[in-house]
Amino acid sequence: MIPTTLRAGVLGCGNISDTYLSRARTFEGLEIVACADTDAGRAAAQAERYGVRGTAPDALLADPEVDIVINLTPPRAHATVGAAAIAAGKHLYSEKPLGVSLEEGRALATAARAAGVRLGCAPDTFLGGGHQLARKLVDEGAIGRPISGAIWFATRGMEHWHPDPAFFFQAGGGPILDIGAYYVTALVNLIGPVKRVMAIGTRGFAERLVTSEGPKRGTRLPVEVDTLVVGALEFACGAVVPLTATWDVFAETTFRLELYGSEGTMLLPDPNFFGGATRLSRGGAPFERVEPSAMAYARPNRRTGRGEDVADYRILGVVDLARAIAEGRPHRCSGDLALHVLEVLCAFDRSAREGRHVAIETPCERPAALSGGDLAWWSGREAPAA
Ligand SMILES: NC(=O)c1ccc[n+]([C@@H]2O[C@H](COP(=O)([O-])OP(=O)(O)OC[C@H]3O[C@@H](n4cnc5c(N)ncnc54)[C@H](O)[C@@H]3O)[C@@H](O)[C@H]2O)c1
Repeated sequence: MIPTTLRAGVLGCGNISDTYLSRARTFEGLEIVACADTDAGRAAAQAERYGVRGTAPDALLADPEVDIVINLTPPRAHATVGAAAIAAGKHLYSEKPLGVSLEEGRALATAARAAGVRLGCAPDTFLGGGHQLARKLVDEGAIGRPISGAIWFATRGMEHWHPDPAFFFQAGGGPILDIGAYYVTALVNLIGPVKRVMAIGTRGFAERLVTSEGPKRGTRLPVEVDTLVVGALEFACGAVVPLTATWDVFAETTFRLELYGSEGTMLLPDPNFFGGATRLSRGGAPFERVEPSAMAYARPNRRTGRGEDVADYRILGVVDLARAIAEGRPHRCSGDLALHVLEVLCAFDRSAREGRHVAIETPCERPAALSGGDLAWWSGREAPAA
C-alpha cells in the first residue's frame, strides 16, 4: 500500500538541517517541501541544494502546503518557534530539547493539546536498528529484571567541530540537556520511566575557545551551564543507574550505556546514532555480539564518514509522526516522552543546586516497539551524501 504522504517544512537551516533534508527521501510517507531561516541566505542555499522551496519563517508557517513544522533552531528558540507553529495550526516536531526549562516544555504540550495538533520531539535514534534490537532483547527477557546499568560519556565538547557552538554552553545546552537526552530516552525506551534523580554538577572551564573552522574561530564563549555532572537515576521498575556526563575531558571520546539485569548484562550501542551491535552476556557467559537489521548499517555518518555504529537517520521520528497521523495511531517520539525526558534532564540541575533528590512527576509510557516496521518505510532510494 502506498502511504499518504504528509508535507513538512524545516525551520532552521543550520548544521543539522543537512541530515534532515538529505535523509527525508530515504523513507516513504513524508516529503519536505520548504525550508526557512531568519538568515535568508542559509534558507536559500539549503533550498537550492535539496530542491525545496526556500522561504521566510512567517511565510513557512502560513504555507497551507506544510502539514508538519520541523523545528531545527537552537534550543533557546524552541519554545517560541514551536508555539508559533502550533498557533499556525501545524503539527510540530522539535529537535531536542523540547524546551530549555520544564515550563517551556509544558507550555508546548498544553498548546498542542488545545490546538488539536501532534507534538513530536527528537531524539529519534532509539528508532534505529541498534536500539530496536536492544529493545527486542530486553522484551524477550534477555537480561531478566533490570537492576542497574551505566550512563557514561566523557568528551572534549563541541567547540572544536561545531561552526557556531555558543548555544551548547548557554541555558538549554550542557552535556545533560544536549547529549544526556539520547541516553535517558534510550533507557526509557528499554526499561520505562524514571522515578527520581540526584546529582552533583560543576564546570571545569569558565570559558571555551572556539577552534572549529569558520567565522567564530578564536571566539571565547562564557560557560553558563555545568559541563561535568555526576548523578543517578532511579527508574519506576526499580533499577538504579549511575550517570557521568562531561565535556571537560580533552583526550577522551568514550561512552558507555549498559544495563545489568537478574539474568544478563547488555552493552548497548551509542544512543546518539541509529546503528551498532549490542553485546549480550546471558547469565555471566562470554559476551555475544548481536547485530541489528541491515538498515542501521546502510549509510555513513556525515560528520565522521564512518559507517555502521554511527549511521545517521535523523528524520525517522518525523517519518513515524507523519505515518502515525495518516494511520490514526500514536507516534513514538511523542510530546509525553519528550516532556518526561526534559523533566529528568532538568532535575539533574535542580538536584545539584538544591542538594537533594528530585522526584519526576510527568507520566510516560514506553513507546511501541518497531517490529521490523522501519524497513517497511524504506523508500529504496539512496540518500544523497550530506
Ligand atoms: N548539529 C548537530 O549535530 C545536531 C545533532 C542533533 C541535534 N541537534 C539539535 O538541532 C538543533 C539545531 O542545531 P544546529 O547544530 O543545526 O544549530 P545551528 O546553530 O547550526 O543552526 C540553527 C539555525 O537556526 C536559525 N534560527 C535561529 N533562530 C531562528 C528562528 N527564530 N527562526 C528561524 N530560524 C532560526 C539560525 O539562523 C541557524 O541557521 C539544536 O536543538 C540541536 O540540539 C544538532
